[in-house]
Amino acid sequence: GKELTDVSNLVEEIVGSEVSIRGRVHNHRLVGKKLFVILRQSVSSVQCVVEEARVGTSMFKFVRQLSHESVVELIGVVSLPKKPLTGTTQQVEIHVTKMYCLSRSSLNLPLVVEDAARSEADIEKSVKDGKPAARVLQDTRLNNRPLDLRTPANQATFRIQCHVQIAFREFLLSKGFLEIHTPKLIAGSSEGGSAVFRLDYKGQPACLAQSPQLHKQMAICGDMRRVFEVGPVFRAEDSFTHRHLCEFVGLDVEMEIRMHYSEIMDLVGDLFPFIFTKIEERCPKELESVRKQYPFQSLKFLPQTLRLTFAEGIQMLKEAGEEVDPLGDLNTESERKLGQLVLEKYKTEFYMLHRYPSAVRPFYTMPCEDDSNYSNSFDVFIRGEEIMSGAQRIHDPELLEKRARECGIDVMTISTYIDAFRYGAPPHGGFGVGLERVVMLLCALDNIRKTSLFPRDPKRLAP
Ligand code: 4AD
Repeated sequence: GKELTDVSNLVEEIVGSEVSIRGRVHNHRLVGKKLFVILRQSVSSVQCVVEEARVGTSMFKFVRQLSHESVVELIGVVSLPKKPLTGTTQQVEIHVTKMYCLSRSSLNLPLVVEDAARSEADIEKSVKDGKPAARVLQDTRLNNRPLDLRTPANQATFRIQCHVQIAFREFLLSKGFLEIHTPKLIAGSSEGGSAVFRLDYKGQPACLAQSPQLHKQMAICGDMRRVFEVGPVFRAEDSFTHRHLCEFVGLDVEMEIRMHYSEIMDLVGDLFPFIFTKIEERCPKELESVRKQYPFQSLKFLPQTLRLTFAEGIQMLKEAGEEVDPLGDLNTESERKLGQLVLEKYKTEFYMLHRYPSAVRPFYTMPCEDDSNYSNSFDVFIRGEEIMSGAQRIHDPELLEKRARECGIDVMTISTYIDAFRYGAPPHGGFGVGLERVVMLLCALDNIRKTSLFPRDPKRLAP
């Protein structure tokens, strides 16, 4: 048959033409002998008018009985409505001549897409007006994710996510980086600790990679010089928080450096403002869609990314009356508090903190030359929450092995990694970013599950 027209392309310019369109029955309303069907296609919607006189009694009856969310195709003529339309994205309406159902939706919807798309403010207003309003719970949403994904805010979120990846890739390719893929089935834990998914690899103990760390460094040992990867990262930690997943998408970078880990921070300081700017340029409608359901303010960032030392951060917290350990890690509360202090003082919600205490960094982190209590490492924050950690790495195999032992790592499981440094390795470093966290914080969303297509957490393995 005729080619399908996207609902978003139904505009005044084509009034009078006959089109075939596909979409879902968003809802319908019977007025006299006319049936008004709102047809939805992703974030676009159009009003379709079905008249008994035009389509015949049996077709009219058939359309009347279609359940919400059913997938239909129809043929009709693009027309101008008598009054301007408010409930649809498209300003024209379709006078239907034929309609077919491709896939009928069950009548028992576990979640009504219209309800799932409502903002908190909208719900409160309804309640005030004496109309009952359903608040769709997060578990209901996630249990029925294919339905939940149909809301405009969710459609927009994953387009934004896609554009963060595109901008990340675009920037790094322009700086001479090579995109690589490292194995996800590995022999030993890459970040240390117990948070690994263990499995049996043909009789050999193995685990799912907690990061591309070991292999991206070995790629540097293999003279690949500047590499990046976008891939899954697995963490078995029992953190049931708003910002931890058991599987997330890691954006990883590893590069040779000349003198100092500041070269890595220079790259990060340019990369993220590039990403933020591209998102604003390329996704204005998507940002608006998310904002409509979950209001937020645009991220404040400086063209020249702010850098503070960990010690300076501790000092700011102390001056604000917080109790913090100068050689410990910052907890979520302190990170948030510091984020507020930085925003007040420097007017930015994006900044880096560097020279972290060695004790809180992974075994492969290079200690500072002048004081081994500190390390050549950094974290990066958006709105007071960590999105990235990075560092210069130890490239001396003896020191690396010593640090691994001190951190309680079974050196046998990573012997090929340590060996890689025995045949000469340039000074190098890099960083890892959590994609879901970046999108969550860019849009100031309250939970990382909103920015994961099918989230995996300690309690969720389905859908
Ligand atoms: O801080 P992490 O564990 O660092 C690494 O994996 C290093 N190999 C990075 C490097 O190159 N030095 O993880 C890096 C980032 C975090 O900043 C956070 O954004 C994200 O990954 N992340 C998580 N995201 C979702 N759920 C989790 N459980 C996460 N754990 C870390």
